[in-house]
Amino acid sequence: MAGKRIRVAIIGVGNCASATVQGIYYYSSNPGGEGLWHPVVGGYRVSDIQIVAALDIDGRKTGKDVSEAIFSEPNVFEKRLTMPKTGVIVEKGLLEDELNPYLASTVKPVKQDREKIVEYFRKNRVEIAVNMISSGLDKSSLAYAEAAREAGASFINATPTSIATNRLIIEEFENKGLIVVGDDLMSQLGGTALHRGLVAFLKSRGLKPVKSYQLDVGGGLETLNTMHEDLRDFKKQVKTSSIIEEAEEGWEVVSGTTDYVDFLGNNRVTYLQFIAKGFMEGGFTINVNMRSNDGFNAGNMILDVVRAVAKAMDDGLRGNVREISNYGFKKTLEKKKLFEATAVFQSKYCG
Ligand SMILES: NC(=O)c1ccc[n+]([C@@H]2O[C@H](COP(=O)([O-])OP(=O)(O)OC[C@H]3O[C@@H](n4cnc5c(N)ncnc54)[C@H](O)[C@@H]3O)[C@@H](O)[C@H]2O)c1
Repeated sequence: MAGKRIRVAIIGVGNCASATVQGIYYYSSNPGGEGLWHPVVGGYRVSDIQIVAALDIDGRKTGKDVSEAIFSEPNVFEKRLTMPKTGVIVEKGLLEDELNPYLASTVKPVKQDREKIVEYFRKNRVEIAVNMISSGLDKSSLAYAEAAREAGASFINATPTSIATNRLIIEEFENKGLIVVGDDLMSQLGGTALHRGLVAFLKSRGLKPVKSYQLDVGGGLETLNTMHEDLRDFKKQVKTSSIIEEAEEGWEVVSGTTDYVDFLGNNRVTYLQFIAKGFMEGGFTINVNMRSNDGFNAGNMILDVVRAVAKAMDDGLRGNVREISNYGFKKTLEKKKLFEATAVFQSKYCG
C-alpha cells in the first residue's frame, strides 16, 4: 500500500533479527540490490518496514539502540554494513521459562512483567510482532503471543512453539481481527527446503525415494541451545514431519540437528543422503553437502512474511492465513508440497 509503513516489533534480538534489521537497511538504501527474492510483496517494498520496538532478555543487548544490540555478544551474524542509529532501544522482554543449562551458560537474563510488554506494544503502535526468541521457551513464546493479541498486534512465530498450529490461539486472534502465522520459520535454502526440493526433483524424474537422511552441524546460540536433549528431539520431529509432506508411502526419513561447533559461527553444514529406485528397481544414491548461513537464510523469509501479513491485514483477513504459513514455515496446519506452497504464495502476494 503506497506510503504506508509497517510498524514491527522484534522479539529476540539474536542472529535472525540481526539479518532482518541489516536487510531492511541494506535493501532500503539499495533498492534493486541483488539477493532480494521478492522486491515487492503485497504491494510493499522492504523500505516500508519500520522497526518500532525490540525486546530481549540478555542484559548485553537491553538498553542499547537496535543498531548496536544486533552486533552484541553472543550474536555472530556478520556485520554487512554500518548501521545508522534506529532510535529504538532494546527493552527487557518477558521470561516465563527456566533457561536450559546451554542457554543459562551464556545468556545474562533480565526480565519484565507481561503487562509492561502489552503497554510497550500499545505505546509504540505495533502492528506486527515477530517472535524470534530462542527455541524451547514455550511459555515465554505463548506469553508474547498473548501480549501481542492484547495490544492489538498480529503475530509471526519463527520459533517451533505451537502457536499458529494451536486452534484455540488462532481463534483468539481471529476474534480480535488479527493474524497469527507460523510455526518454525522455513529457511530460504536450509536443510529442510533442500531436502524437500530434491525429493520433489527425484519424483519429477520418475524415481521413487526410498530412504533419506539429513544431519546438521552448526554454531551460534540457537544451535548450542538445541544441544539440550528434549529440544533436539523435538526439532528432529518438526523437521522430519515437514520433509514427510513430500512423501511417498514407505519412504524412510531421518532429519535433525546433530552437533554444535563453535567456530562455525552462524554457518551450518548439512549432510544429506538420498537413496532412490528407478527402472527395474535400479538404485541411485546421492550425497549432498551444503554450507549455508542461518541469518542469510532467514532474511528473505522474514521480510516476505512481514509484508504478506501486512497485506493480509489490509485485506481484512484474520486468524491463520494458510498460504503465508505454508510458504514461510515448517510446522503448519495444512500439509502442502514445497513447490505448490511457494507458487500459491507468489501468485497471491508477489504478482
Ligand atoms: N534461519 C534461521 O535463522 C531460522 C530458521 C528456522 C527457525 N528459526 C528460529 O528463529 C528463532 C531465532 O533464531 P536465531 O538464530 O536468531 O537465535 P539466536 O539464539 O541467535 O537469538 C535468540 C535471541 O532471543 C533472545 N531471547 C531468548 N529468550 C527471550 C525472551 N524470553 N524474550 C526476548 N528475547 C529472548 C536471546 O537472548 C537471543 O538474543 C529460533 O527460535 C529459531 O529456532 C530460525
